[in-house]
Amino acid sequence: MKARFPRVASLKTPERLRARLTELGASLPCDDQVVAAPDSPLAAPLELGGGVTLANRWVIQPMEGWDGTKAGAPSELTERRWRRFGAGGAAWIWGGEAAAVRADGRANPNQLLMTEPNAGAIGGLRRALVESAEEAGHPAPYVGLQLTHSGRWSRPEGAPAPRTAAPHPILDARLGAGPEAVLSDAEVEDLVRCYARAAHLAQEEGFAFVDLKHCHGYLLHEFLTARARTGAWGGPSLAGRTRLLDALVEAVREAAPELRLGVRLSVFDGVPREPDGSPAAWDGPYRHGFGIDPEEPERIDLCEPVEVVRRLVGHGVGWINVTCASPYYAPHLQRPAAFPPSDGYPPPEDPLIGVARLLGAARDLKAAVPEAVIVSSGWTYLQDFVPHVAQACLREGWFDAVGLGRMALSCPMLPAEAQAGSAPTRALVCRTFSDCTTAPRNGMVSGCYPLDDFYRKRPERQALDTLKKEAAR
Ligand SMILES: Cc1cc2nc3c(=O)[nH]c(=O)nc-3n(C[C@H](O)[C@H](O)[C@H](O)COP(=O)(O)O)c2cc1C
Ligand code: SF4
Repeated sequence: MKARFPRVASLKTPERLRARLTELGASLPCDDQVVAAPDSPLAAPLELGGGVTLANRWVIQPMEGWDGTKAGAPSELTERRWRRFGAGGAAWIWGGEAAAVRADGRANPNQLLMTEPNAGAIGGLRRALVESAEEAGHPAPYVGLQLTHSGRWSRPEGAPAPRTAAPHPILDARLGAGPEAVLSDAEVEDLVRCYARAAHLAQEEGFAFVDLKHCHGYLLHEFLTARARTGAWGGPSLAGRTRLLDALVEAVREAAPELRLGVRLSVFDGVPREPDGSPAAWDGPYRHGFGIDPEEPERIDLCEPVEVVRRLVGHGVGWINVTCASPYYAPHLQRPAAFPPSDGYPPPEDPLIGVARLLGAARDLKAAVPEAVIVSSGWTYLQDFVPHVAQACLREGWFDAVGLGRMALSCPMLPAEAQAGSAPTRALVCRTFSDCTTAPRNGMVSGCYPLDDFYRKRPERQALDTLKKEAAR
């Protein structure tokens, strides 16, 4: 496997990373040394209001494993992942993984389903995570559950079964979705009830908050872009496109008054990519993205995201987890990687540019709405330099917290290592091989097959290797 751009591991020193970033015109600060707690900005307490103070600035992003039971309960693999998240020393567990609020919204037949029969077992994940944090000597992390409906990416039985907010000519053609896939107004109202029910169950199970997931092309993200939808729940105005978000906040508050709320938001989008990585051909303004200029869709325009975040803060929903686009139609934006997943395309730019773009969007949002607590995403491609860049960004006030995705699968101890002023364990540093995305795209459980011994020994590893060899021919 040959990377198209200089490998991050080959840069060796923060100085050389800085030089490479300058060469690329990518603006990211990077410290020379990682400072141990308590002097590092990564170890500074984070006030979340309501008497909640987190012990550090590390967040574990939601990471699904495609490994629940057919009924939507967790399996041993799910519990292993959550335990590892807990043992790593991050203070904030942003949602654990996406749990569907109703069966037709599962992204795969093994996704967690937050309904009555599964609630106790899903709550067990939180308890296991907290237990493993305490066993490792860390304070109990603050744990939420991410609630979702997968919308046009739903595959509850395995085959695509898209449900959409509005027509999208490119994606509808790719997925075979017609007008019948668009949710009716009555179905939207039922969806609100399902979110409220799932949130109530999360509260009963001791979760501190739920994330109303508005990202990655899933249903609630699509409602933010539903300019082509007629009726109350969409249309050209932002007020129409956020009516569902408002209704969800109200319904969840009523059903689960103790529960706090956060929103993971794709703050900018991208035109769906072709197999060679180029944007799909499009005539005229592109009106299907959120946070981009329809006339020039490669240009980020945070006006609407800023307005949404200001309104959320006004409603007391002040925690925003900034991400972008979708892993299905623009993966290089959403999870910058050296090696694409099996349904992806070769990186069209040095992935460092993608990291700088996404972290820059989080910085810009924080600058525009300083009273929001902003969690940043898209760190993993920085590899060994995650702590150096994270420390520098926090010191410069870019955002409030650092959210780890793939790195938490391969090297879950990174937060604790950084707190000790140590470099991450080199052999476990994620090199963005994308196997954790390729595996589920091909019906296998997700995990870090290249670096985590547990997955390395699983039978799927061989199937994955064969698949990759065939793709490379
Ligand atoms: C295997 C896998 C599963 C993921 N599952 C979720 C999920 O359930 N919910 C979510 O919001 N994001 C999910 N993501 C996206 C990550 O949370 C994160 O945004 C992304 O990997 C980019 O961050 P990173 O560069 O640190 O990996 C997933 C990513 C991967 C690789
Ligand atoms: S499989 Fe492992 S090394 Fe590859 S991207 Fe996922 S976490 Fe990183």
